[in-house]
Amino acid sequence: MRAPPASLLVVVLALAAVPNAVSKSTLESCASATACPALLSYTLYADLKLSELAALFAADPLAILASNAIDFAAPDPADHILPAGLPLRVPAPCACSDGIRKVTAARYVARAGDTLASVAGTVYAGLTTPDWIRDSNGLPEDAALDAGTTLFVPLHCACFGGADGGVPAVYLTYVVAQGDTVPAIARRFRTTGNDLMSVNDLATADVAAGDIIVVPLPACASSFPAFTSDAGLAVANGTYAITANRCVQCSCGPGNLDLFCVPAPLADSTCSSMQCSNSNMMLGNFTLQMTSAGCSVTSCSYGGYMNGTILTTLTTSLKPQCPGPHQFPPLMPPPTSSFFEAYLGPSPVPMPSEGGIGPQVAGMAPTSSPPVSSSPPPAHRLVWALFALSLVANLLW
Ligand SMILES: *[C@@H]1O[C@H](CO)[C@@H](O)[C@H](O)[C@H]1NC(C)=O
Ligand SMILES: *[C@@H]1O[C@H](CO)[C@@H](O)[C@H](O)[C@H]1NC(C)=O
Ligand SMILES: *[C@@H]1O[C@H](CO)[C@@H](O)[C@H](O)[C@H]1NC(C)=O
Repeated sequence: MRAPPASLLVVVLALAAVPNAVSKSTLESCASATACPALLSYTLYADLKLSELAALFAADPLAILASNAIDFAAPDPADHILPAGLPLRVPAPCACSDGIRKVTAARYVARAGDTLASVAGTVYAGLTTPDWIRDSNGLPEDAALDAGTTLFVPLHCACFGGADGGVPAVYLTYVVAQGDTVPAIARRFRTTGNDLMSVNDLATADVAAGDIIVVPLPACASSFPAFTSDAGLAVANGTYAITANRCVQCSCGPGNLDLFCVPAPLADSTCSSMQCSNSNMMLGNFTLQMTSAGCSVTSCSYGGYMNGTILTTLTTSLKPQCPGPHQFPPLMPPPTSSFFEAYLGPSPVPMPSEGGIGPQVAGMAPTSSPPVSSSPPPAHRLVWALFALSLVANLLW
């Protein structure tokens, strides 16, 4: 629970397409120009290639997969066709423009038959409004939309300081669907109705289809220096992010909310060194040493991306107990049908066998000091296949 933030204002926008309908939406006022990572809850309106979906939001196709904990190791997933009705989370930088938090990167090239209402309501699934697009593009009232016109499409998002009640959070923009209730939305995203009402400054739990709310998702925060290009990176629990020009993957959860970054599966020779200086350790490697005071953990971790250089830091900390091998959030194969509810939740339910790629294991098992060779992870063949894959990727690099 948090007190209603002073910076929060709820505005009422009239929907041009439906003159009598009035939708609520949560808008966050802002002063800082710094963008934060945000997520948009989006249901595909048609079968779309991953590349087409990515183009709608000016997003990296791999980043979309990573944000949904869908296997992003396959080469060239951009041609993969995603089915209509598939609910996905789309990552987008939430910028500050005209004093309001919004996604400012999205552009849409109008096609024959498009109207502002269809672009806002169908293509962008209600994450924006026809009036907002019209105003943002300086279009006159009742202007026809010419095919080929490039529209700037503002989308709702929120940052709220990257936290909710003191816990690091990424905010997901969610368009209320027919039949949704606050408790149901809260359950779906594993939060509470009270928290949703507080975050969105809702006086009552009444929401209607088309309302735009934001949902805080627990996340792993980074602490990269401000001069890095991925400063402020935050990854929602149970998911991944791709950063450093696709050279590094970072994940969050499932066991804790500590950001964990390793070389990305497709990292190649164009990536700068991912080895910590003065050591033979790579990003994500750690060593454990039992001492009389506890377990001394030395880890090589990611420190942000600067000018094509991957920053690494070697840190040693004392823990009461040695941690086990690192558990990664489970990855799912690319979807071919829209049946799975699992994608709706904040973090996918682990899928133990068939199709699902089980938890990966990395780092080192807690062996006695000084551990130099990795001990075999207790896992099934899929994990080994993945292991081999990432090993190959790393060798290539
Ligand atoms: C993160 O996700 C895991 C598994 O999905 C869950 O068990 C855990 O409670 C979550 N952590 C937080 C802080 O929400
Ligand atoms: C990045 O590189 C450019 C040109 O090589 C240089 O001018 C700039 O100062 C560098 N930035 C940082 C933060 O090092
Ligand atoms: C160190 O990290 C690299 C890159 O992720 C990995 O391939 C390797 O297996 C790790 N080494 C150990 C000993 O865990």
